[in-house]
Amino acid sequence: MYFCAMIDLRSDTVTKPTKPMLEAMMQAEVGDNVYKEDASINALEQYAADLFGMEAALFCPSGTMTNQIALKLHTQPGDEVICDFNAHIYQYEGGGIAFNSGASVRCLQTVDGTFTANDVLDHIHDATDIHHPLTKLISVENTCNRSGGTIWDFEKFVGLRALCNERGFGFHLDGARLFNALVETDRSPEDYGALFDSISICLSKGLGAPVGSLLLGSANFIKRALRVQKLFGGVMRQAGYLASAGLYALQHNVTRLKEDNLHAKRLGSYLEGLLFVERVVPVNSNIVIFYLKDGIAVSDLLEILEQQDILAIGMGNGIVRFVTHLHITEKMIEGIEEKLATINSNYDLQGKLT
Ligand SMILES: Cc1ncc(COP(=O)(O)O)c(C=O)c1O
Repeated sequence: MYFCAMIDLRSDTVTKPTKPMLEAMMQAEVGDNVYKEDASINALEQYAADLFGMEAALFCPSGTMTNQIALKLHTQPGDEVICDFNAHIYQYEGGGIAFNSGASVRCLQTVDGTFTANDVLDHIHDATDIHHPLTKLISVENTCNRSGGTIWDFEKFVGLRALCNERGFGFHLDGARLFNALVETDRSPEDYGALFDSISICLSKGLGAPVGSLLLGSANFIKRALRVQKLFGGVMRQAGYLASAGLYALQHNVTRLKEDNLHAKRLGSYLEGLLFVERVVPVNSNIVIFYLKDGIAVSDLLEILEQQDILAIGMGNGIVRFVTHLHITEKMIEGIEEKLATINSNYDLQGKLT
Protein backbone atom coordinates (compact mmCIF):
# COMPACT_ATOMS: atom_id res chain seq x y z
CA MET A 1 0.00 0.00 0.00
CA TYR A 2 1.34 3.44 -0.92
CA PHE A 3 1.21 6.12 1.76
CA CYS A 4 2.52 9.66 1.55
CA ALA A 5 5.36 8.73 3.89
CA MET A 6 6.83 6.67 1.07
CA ILE A 7 9.79 8.06 -0.80
CA ASP A 8 8.69 7.26 -4.32
CA LEU A 9 11.57 6.90 -6.75
CA ARG A 10 9.69 4.76 -9.27
CA SER A 11 9.19 7.60 -11.73
CA ASP A 12 8.78 11.35 -12.04
CA THR A 13 5.23 10.61 -13.23
CA VAL A 14 4.11 10.01 -9.63
CA THR A 15 4.01 13.69 -8.63
CA LYS A 16 0.78 15.30 -7.48
CA PRO A 17 -0.15 18.95 -8.09
CA THR A 18 1.19 21.36 -5.51
CA LYS A 19 -1.11 23.90 -3.82
CA PRO A 20 -0.24 26.81 -6.16
CA MET A 21 -0.72 24.53 -9.16
CA LEU A 22 -4.12 23.47 -7.83
CA GLU A 23 -5.02 27.13 -7.35
CA ALA A 24 -4.07 27.86 -10.97
CA MET A 25 -6.27 24.94 -12.02
CA MET A 26 -9.22 26.25 -9.99
CA GLN A 27 -8.98 29.60 -11.73
CA ALA A 28 -8.90 28.15 -15.25
CA GLU A 29 -11.17 29.65 -17.82
CA VAL A 30 -12.63 26.74 -19.78
CA GLY A 31 -14.84 26.11 -22.77
CA ASP A 32 -15.53 23.45 -25.37
CA ASN A 33 -12.15 22.71 -26.85
CA VAL A 34 -13.64 20.90 -29.85
CA TYR A 35 -14.93 24.36 -30.82
CA LYS A 36 -11.51 25.77 -29.83
CA GLU A 37 -13.28 27.72 -27.07
CA ASP A 38 -11.17 26.64 -24.13
CA ALA A 39 -9.15 29.75 -23.32
CA SER A 40 -6.74 27.88 -21.03
CA ILE A 41 -5.88 25.23 -23.61
CA ASN A 42 -5.49 27.92 -26.26
CA ALA A 43 -3.18 29.89 -23.94
CA LEU A 44 -1.05 26.83 -23.14
CA GLU A 45 -0.70 25.89 -26.80
CA GLN A 46 0.27 29.45 -27.74
CA TYR A 47 2.75 29.70 -24.86
CA ALA A 48 4.46 26.44 -25.81
CA ALA A 49 4.59 27.29 -29.52
CA ASP A 50 6.17 30.69 -28.71
CA LEU A 51 8.62 29.11 -26.27
CA PHE A 52 9.95 26.79 -28.97
CA GLY A 53 9.59 29.32 -31.78
CA MET A 54 7.35 26.85 -33.61
CA GLU A 55 4.14 27.72 -35.39
CA ALA A 56 1.68 25.69 -33.37
CA ALA A 57 1.11 23.23 -30.53
CA LEU A 58 -1.53 20.68 -29.61
CA PHE A 59 -2.47 19.73 -26.04
CA CYS A 60 -2.97 15.98 -25.65
CA PRO A 61 -3.69 13.67 -22.71
CA SER A 62 -0.37 11.79 -22.88
CA GLY A 63 3.11 11.60 -24.32
CA THR A 64 2.20 8.32 -25.94
CA MET A 65 -0.52 10.12 -27.86
CA THR A 66 1.70 13.03 -28.98
CA ASN A 67 4.38 10.58 -30.15
CA GLN A 68 1.90 8.32 -31.89
CA ILE A 69 0.18 11.21 -33.68
CA ALA A 70 3.57 12.43 -34.91
CA LEU A 71 4.57 8.96 -36.10
CA LYS A 72 1.27 8.60 -37.94
CA LEU A 73 1.75 11.92 -39.72
CA HIS A 74 5.35 11.28 -40.69
CA THR A 75 4.74 7.82 -42.16
CA GLN A 76 2.49 5.76 -44.43
CA PRO A 77 1.81 2.02 -43.91
CA GLY A 78 4.89 0.12 -45.08
CA ASP A 79 7.32 2.92 -44.22
CA GLU A 80 10.07 2.55 -41.65
CA VAL A 81 11.13 4.56 -38.61
CA ILE A 82 14.72 4.64 -37.36
CA CYS A 83 15.24 4.95 -33.61
CA ASP A 84 17.32 3.62 -30.76
CA PHE A 85 16.49 0.11 -29.50
CA ASN A 86 15.59 1.52 -26.08
CA ALA A 87 13.37 4.31 -27.42
CA HIS A 88 10.06 4.76 -25.62
CA ILE A 89 8.20 4.78 -28.97
CA TYR A 90 9.52 1.25 -29.62
CA GLN A 91 9.66 -0.30 -26.14
CA TYR A 92 6.75 1.21 -24.25
CA GLU A 93 3.99 2.35 -26.56
CA GLY A 94 2.33 -1.01 -27.03
CA GLY A 95 3.57 -1.57 -30.57
CA GLY A 96 1.70 1.58 -31.54
CA ILE A 97 3.95 2.25 -34.53
CA ALA A 98 2.65 -0.96 -36.11
CA PHE A 99 -0.88 -0.70 -34.72
CA ASN A 100 -1.59 2.95 -35.48
CA SER A 101 0.65 3.65 -38.44
CA GLY A 102 1.34 0.25 -40.05
CA ALA A 103 5.00 1.20 -40.11
CA SER A 104 8.03 -0.90 -39.19
CA VAL A 105 10.97 0.06 -37.01
CA ARG A 106 14.71 -0.16 -37.58
CA CYS A 107 16.37 -0.11 -34.19
CA LEU A 108 19.91 1.06 -33.60
CA GLN A 109 21.93 -0.60 -30.84
CA THR A 110 23.60 2.27 -29.01
CA VAL A 111 25.54 2.60 -25.78
CA ASP A 112 23.56 5.47 -24.28
CA GLY A 113 20.55 6.03 -26.52
CA THR A 114 22.26 8.63 -28.71
CA PHE A 115 23.61 8.22 -32.24
CA THR A 116 25.13 10.17 -35.12
CA ALA A 117 24.18 10.61 -38.77
CA ASN A 118 27.01 8.21 -39.57
CA ASP A 119 25.52 5.52 -37.32
CA VAL A 120 22.26 5.81 -39.26
CA LEU A 121 23.73 5.50 -42.76
CA ASP A 122 23.95 1.69 -42.80
CA HIS A 123 20.35 1.44 -41.65
CA ILE A 124 18.75 3.45 -44.42
CA HIS A 125 17.13 1.27 -47.03
CA ASP A 126 17.76 1.64 -50.75
CA ALA A 127 14.51 3.26 -51.85
CA THR A 128 14.86 1.79 -55.35
CA ASP A 129 14.86 -1.79 -54.01
CA ILE A 130 11.24 -2.90 -53.76
CA HIS A 131 12.08 -5.55 -51.14
CA HIS A 132 12.62 -2.97 -48.45
CA PRO A 133 10.35 -0.67 -46.50
CA LEU A 134 10.88 2.99 -47.25
CA THR A 135 12.87 4.79 -44.58
CA LYS A 136 10.83 7.88 -43.70
CA LEU A 137 11.57 9.14 -40.22
CA ILE A 138 14.34 9.48 -37.66
CA SER A 139 13.00 9.65 -34.12
CA VAL A 140 15.18 10.56 -31.13
CA GLU A 141 14.57 10.85 -27.39
CA ASN A 142 16.07 13.51 -25.09
CA THR A 143 16.68 12.69 -22.33
CA CYS A 144 16.88 8.93 -23.04
CA ASN A 145 14.76 7.29 -20.37
CA ARG A 146 15.73 3.62 -20.62
CA SER A 147 19.38 4.46 -21.24
CA GLY A 148 19.67 6.29 -17.92
CA GLY A 149 18.52 9.82 -18.69
CA THR A 150 21.28 10.59 -21.19
CA ILE A 151 21.47 14.13 -22.52
CA TRP A 152 22.34 14.33 -26.20
CA ASP A 153 25.25 16.29 -27.57
CA PHE A 154 23.30 18.85 -29.64
CA GLU A 155 25.78 18.54 -32.53
CA LYS A 156 24.50 15.01 -33.13
CA PHE A 157 21.05 16.48 -33.75
CA VAL A 158 22.54 18.99 -36.17
CA GLY A 159 24.14 16.14 -38.13
CA LEU A 160 20.92 14.12 -38.14
CA ARG A 161 18.93 17.17 -39.34
CA ALA A 162 21.32 17.56 -42.28
CA LEU A 163 20.87 13.88 -43.12
CA CYS A 164 17.07 14.19 -42.93
CA ASN A 165 17.19 17.21 -45.26
CA GLU A 166 19.40 15.36 -47.71
CA ARG A 167 17.19 12.23 -47.79
CA GLY A 168 13.78 13.81 -47.28
CA PHE A 169 13.15 12.16 -43.89
CA GLY A 170 11.07 13.59 -41.08
CA PHE A 171 12.83 14.33 -37.78
CA HIS A 172 10.86 13.78 -34.55
CA LEU A 173 11.91 14.43 -30.95
CA ASP A 174 10.35 12.60 -28.03
CA GLY A 175 11.18 15.29 -25.50
CA ALA A 176 9.21 13.82 -22.60
CA ARG A 177 12.04 15.05 -20.34
CA LEU A 178 13.55 17.67 -22.62
CA PHE A 179 13.51 20.31 -19.88
CA ASN A 180 15.72 18.11 -17.68
CA ALA A 181 18.25 18.35 -20.52
CA LEU A 182 17.69 22.05 -21.21
CA VAL A 183 18.58 23.09 -17.66
CA GLU A 184 21.95 21.34 -18.03
CA THR A 185 23.03 22.87 -21.34
CA ASP A 186 23.20 26.28 -22.97
CA ARG A 187 20.69 25.28 -25.65
CA SER A 188 17.26 26.93 -25.69
CA PRO A 189 13.84 25.54 -26.64
CA GLU A 190 14.10 27.69 -29.81
CA ASP A 191 17.28 25.83 -30.82
CA TYR A 192 15.23 22.63 -30.73
CA GLY A 193 12.26 24.24 -32.45
CA ALA A 194 14.50 25.31 -35.33
CA LEU A 195 15.82 21.78 -35.86
CA PHE A 196 12.93 19.36 -35.54
CA ASP A 197 9.82 18.81 -37.65
CA SER A 198 7.91 17.73 -34.57
CA ILE A 199 8.54 17.75 -30.84
CA SER A 200 6.62 16.06 -28.03
CA ILE A 201 7.04 17.41 -24.51
CA CYS A 202 5.46 16.03 -21.36
CA LEU A 203 3.99 18.22 -18.63
CA SER A 204 3.23 15.31 -16.33
CA LYS A 205 6.79 14.13 -15.65
CA GLY A 206 9.43 16.31 -14.00
CA LEU A 207 7.31 19.41 -14.56
CA GLY A 208 4.76 18.10 -12.08
CA ALA A 209 1.43 18.54 -13.87
CA PRO A 210 -1.09 15.76 -13.29
CA VAL A 211 -1.86 15.16 -16.98
CA GLY A 212 -0.77 16.31 -20.39
CA SER A 213 1.70 16.55 -23.22
CA LEU A 214 2.15 18.92 -26.11
CA LEU A 215 2.95 18.19 -29.73
CA LEU A 216 4.73 21.03 -31.52
CA GLY A 217 5.20 21.59 -35.23
CA SER A 218 4.28 23.74 -38.21
CA ALA A 219 0.75 25.13 -38.43
CA ASN A 220 -0.08 22.64 -41.16
CA PHE A 221 1.39 19.71 -39.20
CA ILE A 222 -0.63 20.59 -36.11
CA LYS A 223 -3.78 21.06 -38.20
CA ARG A 224 -3.34 17.51 -39.47
CA ALA A 225 -2.40 16.36 -35.95
CA LEU A 226 -5.74 17.59 -34.61
CA ARG A 227 -7.56 15.33 -37.06
CA VAL A 228 -5.54 12.31 -35.87
CA GLN A 229 -6.04 13.31 -32.22
CA LYS A 230 -9.78 13.31 -32.87
CA LEU A 231 -9.77 9.88 -34.48
CA PHE A 232 -7.61 8.52 -31.61
CA GLY A 233 -10.39 9.76 -29.30
CA GLY A 234 -8.05 12.20 -27.60
CA VAL A 235 -9.61 15.62 -28.17
CA MET A 236 -10.81 16.73 -24.74
CA ARG A 237 -13.60 19.21 -24.00
CA GLN A 238 -13.29 21.49 -20.92
CA ALA A 239 -9.75 20.31 -20.22
CA GLY A 240 -8.52 23.82 -19.48
CA TYR A 241 -8.28 22.81 -15.82
CA LEU A 242 -5.53 20.42 -16.88
CA ALA A 243 -3.99 22.85 -19.36
CA SER A 244 -3.72 25.45 -16.58
CA ALA A 245 -1.68 23.01 -14.54
CA GLY A 246 0.53 22.55 -17.61
CA LEU A 247 0.96 26.28 -18.10
CA TYR A 248 1.79 26.71 -14.42
CA ALA A 249 4.36 23.90 -14.78
CA LEU A 250 6.05 25.52 -17.78
CA GLN A 251 6.14 28.90 -16.06
CA HIS A 252 7.26 27.78 -12.58
CA ASN A 253 8.75 24.29 -12.57
CA VAL A 254 11.46 24.36 -15.24
CA THR A 255 14.48 25.86 -13.48
CA ARG A 256 13.97 23.70 -10.39
CA LEU A 257 14.61 20.57 -12.50
CA LYS A 258 18.30 21.26 -11.92
CA GLU A 259 17.68 20.25 -8.31
CA ASP A 260 16.23 16.89 -9.39
CA ASN A 261 19.22 16.32 -11.65
CA LEU A 262 21.58 17.15 -8.78
CA HIS A 263 19.78 14.76 -6.42
CA ALA A 264 20.06 11.99 -9.01
CA LYS A 265 23.77 12.66 -9.53
CA ARG A 266 24.31 12.53 -5.78
CA LEU A 267 22.48 9.20 -5.51
CA GLY A 268 24.45 7.85 -8.47
CA SER A 269 27.77 8.72 -6.81
CA TYR A 270 26.61 7.17 -3.56
CA LEU A 271 25.54 3.94 -5.23
CA GLU A 272 28.94 3.64 -6.90
CA GLY A 273 30.52 3.02 -3.50
CA LEU A 274 28.18 0.19 -2.48
CA LEU A 275 29.32 -3.42 -2.45
CA PHE A 276 26.12 -4.89 -3.87
CA VAL A 277 26.16 -2.54 -6.86
CA GLU A 278 28.05 -3.75 -9.92
CA ARG A 279 27.95 -0.44 -11.79
CA VAL A 280 25.99 2.77 -12.18
CA VAL A 281 25.17 4.16 -15.61
CA PRO A 282 26.62 7.71 -15.81
CA VAL A 283 23.97 10.07 -14.44
CA ASN A 284 23.22 13.07 -16.68
CA SER A 285 19.78 14.11 -15.48
CA ASN A 286 17.11 12.83 -13.04
CA ILE A 287 17.32 9.09 -13.81
CA VAL A 288 19.68 6.69 -12.05
CA ILE A 289 20.09 3.22 -13.49
CA PHE A 290 22.32 0.72 -11.75
CA TYR A 291 23.25 -2.94 -12.06
CA LEU A 292 23.30 -5.28 -9.09
CA LYS A 293 26.14 -7.75 -8.52
CA ASP A 294 25.61 -11.15 -10.14
CA GLY A 295 23.32 -13.40 -8.13
CA ILE A 296 21.40 -10.60 -6.39
CA ALA A 297 17.72 -10.54 -7.31
CA VAL A 298 16.29 -7.13 -8.14
CA SER A 299 13.07 -8.15 -6.39
CA ASP A 300 15.02 -8.69 -3.14
CA LEU A 301 16.42 -5.16 -3.18
CA LEU A 302 13.05 -3.65 -4.13
CA GLU A 303 11.38 -5.52 -1.28
CA ILE A 304 13.95 -4.39 1.30
CA LEU A 305 13.70 -0.82 0.08
CA GLU A 306 9.92 -0.94 0.28
CA GLN A 307 10.13 -2.17 3.88
CA GLN A 308 12.15 1.00 4.48
CA ASP A 309 9.50 3.16 2.77
CA ILE A 310 11.41 3.60 -0.47
CA LEU A 311 9.83 2.64 -3.79
CA ALA A 312 11.90 1.93 -6.90
CA ILE A 313 11.47 -0.21 -10.01
CA GLY A 314 13.38 -3.00 -11.69
CA MET A 315 14.14 -2.94 -15.40
CA GLY A 316 15.04 -6.61 -15.93
CA ASN A 317 18.52 -8.21 -16.09
CA GLY A 318 19.66 -7.11 -12.64
CA ILE A 319 18.87 -3.45 -13.30
CA VAL A 320 17.24 -1.03 -10.84
CA ARG A 321 15.98 2.50 -11.57
CA PHE A 322 15.62 5.50 -9.28
CA VAL A 323 14.01 8.70 -10.61
CA THR A 324 14.11 12.00 -8.71
CA HIS A 325 11.39 14.63 -8.94
CA LEU A 326 9.46 17.49 -7.40
CA HIS A 327 8.56 15.60 -4.22
CA ILE A 328 12.08 14.35 -3.45
CA THR A 329 13.89 16.68 -1.07
CA GLU A 330 17.54 16.84 -0.05
CA LYS A 331 16.56 15.49 3.35
CA MET A 332 15.00 12.45 1.68
CA ILE A 333 18.20 11.90 -0.31
CA GLU A 334 20.11 11.86 2.98
CA GLY A 335 17.60 9.36 4.37
CA ILE A 336 17.93 7.14 1.29
CA GLU A 337 21.71 7.17 1.62
CA GLU A 338 21.48 6.15 5.28
CA LYS A 339 19.19 3.24 4.45
CA LEU A 340 21.40 2.14 1.56
CA ALA A 341 24.38 2.26 3.93
CA THR A 342 22.64 -0.17 6.30
CA ILE A 343 21.76 -2.54 3.47
CA ASN A 344 25.38 -2.33 2.36
CA SER A 345 26.79 -3.15 5.82
CA ASN A 346 24.46 -6.13 6.14
CA TYR A 347 25.56 -7.33 2.70
CA ASP A 348 29.19 -6.98 3.74
CA LEU A 349 28.60 -9.06 6.87
CA GLN A 350 26.23 -11.70 5.51
CA GLY A 351 27.01 -11.83 1.79
CA LYS A 352 23.35 -11.26 0.99
CA LEU A 353 20.79 -8.46 1.02
CA THR A 354 18.76 -8.23 4.20
C1 LIG B 1 10.65 9.10 -22.96
C2 LIG B 1 9.17 8.97 -22.83
N1 LIG B 1 8.38 9.27 -23.87
C3 LIG B 1 7.06 9.18 -23.80
C4 LIG B 1 6.43 8.78 -22.64
C5 LIG B 1 4.93 8.62 -22.63
O1 LIG B 1 4.29 9.47 -21.79
P1 LIG B 1 2.83 9.09 -21.20
O2 LIG B 1 3.06 8.22 -20.03
O3 LIG B 1 2.27 10.42 -20.87
O4 LIG B 1 2.07 8.42 -22.28
C6 LIG B 1 7.20 8.46 -21.52
C7 LIG B 1 6.55 8.03 -20.26
O5 LIG B 1 7.18 7.72 -19.29
C8 LIG B 1 8.61 8.55 -21.61
O6 LIG B 1 9.42 8.24 -20.59
